[in-house]
Amino acid sequence: MNKRKIGLPESYEPLLEQELRKIGYSLGEPGKIARAVQKLSDFYLANPEGQTPWREAFAQAASLAYYFPLNYARNRSVADEAARLGFYEGLDSLFDIGCGTGSGILAFMDRAKQSGRKFQHALAQDLSDDAVRLCEALAHGAEHELKSRHLSVEETRELPSKQTLVIASYVYTELAQAPDWWRHAEALAIIEPSTQSDARRLQAFRKDLLAWGFSLWAPCTHEGDCPLLLHSQKDWCHDRIHWAAPQWFMQIEKQLPMKNRTLTFSYILARRSRRPQESLNRFARLIGDTLEEKGKNRQAVCRNSDREFFAWFPQRFPKGSRAIELERGNLVQFSGEEKRGSEIRLPSAEAIEELPPSAPVP
Ligand SMILES: C[S@@+](CC[C@H](N)C(=O)[O-])C[C@H]1O[C@@H](n2cnc3c(N)ncnc32)[C@H](O)[C@@H]1O
Repeated sequence: MNKRKIGLPESYEPLLEQELRKIGYSLGEPGKIARAVQKLSDFYLANPEGQTPWREAFAQAASLAYYFPLNYARNRSVADEAARLGFYEGLDSLFDIGCGTGSGILAFMDRAKQSGRKFQHALAQDLSDDAVRLCEALAHGAEHELKSRHLSVEETRELPSKQTLVIASYVYTELAQAPDWWRHAEALAIIEPSTQSDARRLQAFRKDLLAWGFSLWAPCTHEGDCPLLLHSQKDWCHDRIHWAAPQWFMQIEKQLPMKNRTLTFSYILARRSRRPQESLNRFARLIGDTLEEKGKNRQAVCRNSDREFFAWFPQRFPKGSRAIELERGNLVQFSGEEKRGSEIRLPSAEAIEELPPSAPVP
């Protein structure tokens, strides 16, 4: 199994501590932070449509020590997937709309730095000045050149004409509709909560993107209708990564009812430039976890507008065969398929090949 395990670079710990201390919190007091997280979580539950109360110290503390690391890991996995698909080719700027504390833009900038490249312009924007200030502090601490400010509507319209990747992490969910200027962007990375309604809304947004002339790079492996919208009233497309939580995060989480060993999210990477044709349709994407049912294993997969599942019977494999272990979110290639209804039967472990998550897609 090619597990995707993602953490937060250690260098963020002192930066988070520095910002937390300014508002009377510390990673050394996990109980106090856990109470702030619980309070913000209760606020979101009571006000599902509400804006983050950024002015409040408890909201800033919870955002820095809890939501920042989690959303950083989610964004980092999308940034990694973009890198291996060659998605950054020709892009020179990043623009994070609704940046919050910067988990989106920082994950993409860190990914670029890892591969020895740098975006010439990085701009982070949020309705809240407090959020923007925190994002800037973390970015500068991480030695990234980043500008952040409140942009006028005219200015945001200007941006996409440059070779800009627009990042919207957990923001589309707060918008009644996609801003009109998104349709003129060169590239979009939209990351959303993996709730049924948010994810299905994002899946439906594919059609708008295609109508606006975008090409879908990930997670979709095709540009036909989304099978989960077409054949299901309730299923939704989402990814899952393993969260390599730092020790200090575990201390906070210990005191909370919610646990995060794995993190789920939904996303779309879209570009005006076409995805290389040779890589389109050659792969299928695992869009479910392995389900074990009395001797048969099943796993949802997406390669066209059909609702399909891989199915295999481990006990029917020759003795000594290796087990098939497939990770949701990964790309696979397979051969020798036998189709039975919605099932693609896998005759052996050799019939399927999972692309390592770090390998460039040829
Ligand atoms: C749930 S937070 C997500 C923050 C960050 N992007 C992340 O992934 O952790 C949503 C953010 O979007 C901002 N926001 C909401 N509507 C916005 C808009 N129309 N323009 C800019 N920012 C907006 C909010 O102030 C808030 O900081």
